[in-house]
Amino acid sequence: MPQKVILDVDTGSDDAVALMLAALSPELDLVGATTVNGNTLVHFCTENTLRVFDAIGVQVPVYEGMALPLSRPNPPRAASSHAIHGDLLDLPPATSRKQPQHAVDWLIETYLASAGDIILVPVGPLTNVAAAIRQAPQILEKIPEIVIMGGAHEVGNRTALAEFNIWCDPEAARIVMNCGRPIRLVPLDATSRALVSLEDCARFRRIGTPAAIATAVMVEQRIRAYDAHQPARRTGAAPVHDALAVCAILDPGVITTHFIHVDVEVQGPLTDGTTVCDFRRGRGRAPNVHFAVDADEAKFVAMLGAILGRTA
Ligand code: RIB
Ligand code: CA
Repeated sequence: MPQKVILDVDTGSDDAVALMLAALSPELDLVGATTVNGNTLVHFCTENTLRVFDAIGVQVPVYEGMALPLSRPNPPRAASSHAIHGDLLDLPPATSRKQPQHAVDWLIETYLASAGDIILVPVGPLTNVAAAIRQAPQILEKIPEIVIMGGAHEVGNRTALAEFNIWCDPEAARIVMNCGRPIRLVPLDATSRALVSLEDCARFRRIGTPAAIATAVMVEQRIRAYDAHQPARRTGAAPVHDALAVCAILDPGVITTHFIHVDVEVQGPLTDGTTVCDFRRGRGRAPNVHFAVDADEAKFVAMLGAILGRTA
């Protein structure tokens, strides 16, 4: 039986690759996608998500969610974020339509009706997930695991310390991090060690499927933007953050994790939105998060090629 998953996305080019991986992996059953304010305004994230599914010919229900963080105004957008994603993905306008139900209501209804077998995969700000937990805490016992792209220990991307998804809505992230359910966190520490290169993109183009070609186009744009604004560990390559979270469900060996305590700073003038990671052994608070400190780049890129080479 394929593993059921729900992706909560702020689509975005790396969310787009994550969505294609989840939709095209025979080992996964993508039950639905929920959208949230983040990389761009939520209605653009919704349109982008629909565009991705249309482009690869799959029908997955898309539910639009929160337009603002839980208790803050919308954060200003960085120029680098615009260069990496833009508002709308360079794919044909969507012909399929979003579902009428709000994402938070759908998450609650779906989890309450489930057999407790749907892994939740948030790869944007955690606003929808926190809102659902706050509104209906009884869903928690039906969520077997939450696999999150977010956070950083070594170095941030939105501030010196904070990663974008957590920084956008730290109050929401704090609720989720402390929810008591099993959490795997795929932070920048791991995604920055699993880069996709221009040579990899050339290989994806040669594979020739709609998903592989779309990925090549989007990742090449990411690489140009990273080289110009936000250099990765080497030039001519960039992280595709959200895709690594989906790959970690398919093959946990693609990341290396430590079981540690993680909380979220919600007010420091220099540290707002930082994931505070306690790596002390046997001291401090009990571990709550499997925190990825490393990733296997070769395995990740091979997984991308194998899955994106599939058609619906
Ligand atoms: O920091 C990387 C994360 O921020 C990714 O999820 C990307 O899509 C953006 O949301
Ligand atoms: Ca994202």
